[in-house]
Order: sequence, then structure tokens, then C-alpha cells
Amino acid sequence: MTVRIGVIGAGVMGSDHARTLQGSVSGATVTAIADPVQDRACALAAETGARCFSSAEELIASPFVDAVLIASNDNAHAEQVMACLEHGKPVLCEKPLAPTVRECQDLVDRQDALAAGIPLISVGFMRRFHPAYRAMKTLLEEGAIGQPLMVLSSHRNSTCPPGGNSAATITNSGIHEIDITAWLLNSPIESVSWHAPRSTALDSSRQDPQVLHLRTADGVLTAVDLFLNAQYGYDVRCEIVGELGTVELARPHLTTTSRALTESKSYAADWRPVFADAYRLQSQAWVDALISGTRPPLATAEEALAAARVAQALVDSMNSGGATISINHPHPAAGESFAGGKHERTLTNVR
Ligand SMILES: NC(=O)c1ccc[n+]([C@@H]2O[C@H](COP(=O)([O-])OP(=O)(O)OC[C@H]3O[C@@H](n4cnc5c(N)ncnc54)[C@H](O)[C@@H]3O)[C@@H](O)[C@H]2O)c1
Repeated sequence: MTVRIGVIGAGVMGSDHARTLQGSVSGATVTAIADPVQDRACALAAETGARCFSSAEELIASPFVDAVLIASNDNAHAEQVMACLEHGKPVLCEKPLAPTVRECQDLVDRQDALAAGIPLISVGFMRRFHPAYRAMKTLLEEGAIGQPLMVLSSHRNSTCPPGGNSAATITNSGIHEIDITAWLLNSPIESVSWHAPRSTALDSSRQDPQVLHLRTADGVLTAVDLFLNAQYGYDVRCEIVGELGTVELARPHLTTTSRALTESKSYAADWRPVFADAYRLQSQAWVDALISGTRPPLATAEEALAAARVAQALVDSMNSGGATISINHPHPAAGESFAGGKHERTLTNVR
């Protein structure tokens, strides 16, 4: 049985996902690529043996597509996910599900109204599949460090493309930290505050770095530094401090070199090598679920909505001088998708 997947967006992530799906995910074949930049779509389609489309709508409607992976720009997600819902096609949408709470809410409402059994929407918060984060969560659940008390995280990119703003740092990059914090602690984020140190002179378009404080319902306080122009490399850190000890994400060094009486470690330029396993494992889990007709064990639309609410609260805090902002989650927010797994509906158009 093979799931025929259409990939929307042939940029950095779409190309990476298409190659991974085609080369490293069993039960999947990439049959279509769409991008308004036709040359880009057709080059990736030629490489993966797919057909190319200039319009996402055409790809979603194509009879050669059973399921859709969306890796277009953030502001195109909501309309494309909605079109997948209308066509009854399962969709794995890159994070964020959409940049605004309103759009995420509309998608959750439409999915609920369709009552299709297994939810069609999965969201690419792929850190949940990173083996090191999973090991940390297991250790936490086993009580290895006792009750968690605080989490210290860092999210640093070498450089970031021009054209963003301070809010996009939160809704596009900080959203990873929001999701993984609630998932690791299995506790929804209930209040937040935003803080700004002196800003780098290397990016005049946004406050950079930023510091986020996230307080989960279990009373744990998380501090995250987001620094998108850190220059030295791509670096994600996370340490959970508990009553009995700490557990820390292994540092993402690609190599350690010893020479001339010195040991040096190299960083990746971006996220792709650091999270390659996570992207592959996430896609494999999605495809496996589509084939077996079970609920995909990926982040749900409701969890993406919860993350969007937290991101909005952080933007509100930013716009009100760092005030503490509370969040009311009408939906269950954390850990929900990993508790799922019941058989509700099979994917009929998989062949
Ligand atoms: N999970 C992660 O670790 C991770 C990392 C980076 C980016 N992302 C997300 O992946 C998505 C893509 O990011 P990227 O870095 O590949 O960006 P990118 O700019 O490299 O690629 C985006 C592509 O989408 C295309 N596009 C724009 N509007 C479109 C539309 N309406 N229909 C179809 N295609 C359209 C663009 O032409 C471009 O080729 C974003 O949502 C981003 O937030 C996730």
C-alpha cells in the first residue's frame, strides 16, 4: 500500500520533505509538487519523479494525490489546509498551522464540523519526534529527576532572512519552544511574559534576541532565549531542572576536532541536519497512520491552536512592556496526540 503525497512549497523545507518522503519513508511516494515559482516546482518534481503544479488548489484536487504536505510560507497555510479539509484529504502542515489564532480556530472548527472520524490535520512540530527530546520526556515521566521545577532553553539561528519583525520571531520560531515545552512537561502554558535585552546591531527589522517566560499549569517556569542572528551557528538547547537532578538535550555539534592542543566543535548552519531524524520519523509516523487508518501521532490542530494562543499572548506582552499575560485554553493543550491512537476511520483513497 502506498500513499501518494503532494508537497506544496518547493523551498527549503518542501524540498527537504519531498526528498525524505521519496527516499527514506516507506509506504510513501511523492506524486505532485506545487509552487507559484514554476521552475522551482518543476525542478523538484523532476528530481522526485512527480508532476508539477503552479497552483496549490490544483494539487489538492488532483486525483493523483491522497494526502498533502504543506511547506509553503506561513501566511499561505490556512487557506491550503482549509482546501485539504474540503477535499477530505489528510494534511501534514508545517508549523505554524497558521500565524493567527483566528485562522487556527477556523481550521479547528471546520475540522470539527466535518466530523470525519480521524482528524485530517496534523501539524509539523517535529521536535516531538527528535530522539533526544523523546528520551528527556521519558526520563521525566519515569521520575529520574523528580518533579520538574524550571526549564532553560535556547533557540539560536546563525542568521535570519530580512523582512521579518519581532512578532514573527515569536509566531514563526518561538512557536517551536512553546509547543515542545508544553509537550515535554505535559502541561499547558497558562501565562507568559516577554523580555528584551539590548538588541543586536546586525538586524534592524526586529528585536533580537528576545527572552520568553512561560509558566505551565504544573507551576514550572521556562525561560527561553530566542536569538535569530547569533552568527556562530544553529544551536538549540534545553535543560530541565528537577528536584533530584537535571536532564539536558545533547548539544547539536556535528563534529569534534582535536588538534594543536585544542578541542573544537562544529555547529550546523541550520536546523536540517540537527533535526533530520525528527523530520523523517515524523513523516514515517504520519504515513504509517494513514495506511493503518489510525490517528496520526503528530501534533493536532487543537495543540497548534493552543500554541498560537500562547504566541499571541507573548506578542501582547511584547506590546505592553513585558506584562504577564494569562491564557485560557478551551481545548486540551498538551500531550493529547501521543495519548491518541484509536482506530476511527480508514483512508479510502490510499492504494
Ligand atoms: N519544522 C521546522 O523545523 C521548520 C523549519 C523551517 C521552516 N519551517 C516552516 O516551513 C514552511 C516553509 O519554510 P521554508 O523555510 O521552506 O521557506 P522557503 O521560503 O524556503 O519556501 C517556501 C516556498 O513556498 C512557496 N510558496 C509561497 N506561497 C505559496 C503558495 N501560496 N502556494 C504554494 N507555494 C507557495 C514559495 O515560492 C517557496 O518556494 C514555513 O511555514 C516555515 O515556518 C519549518
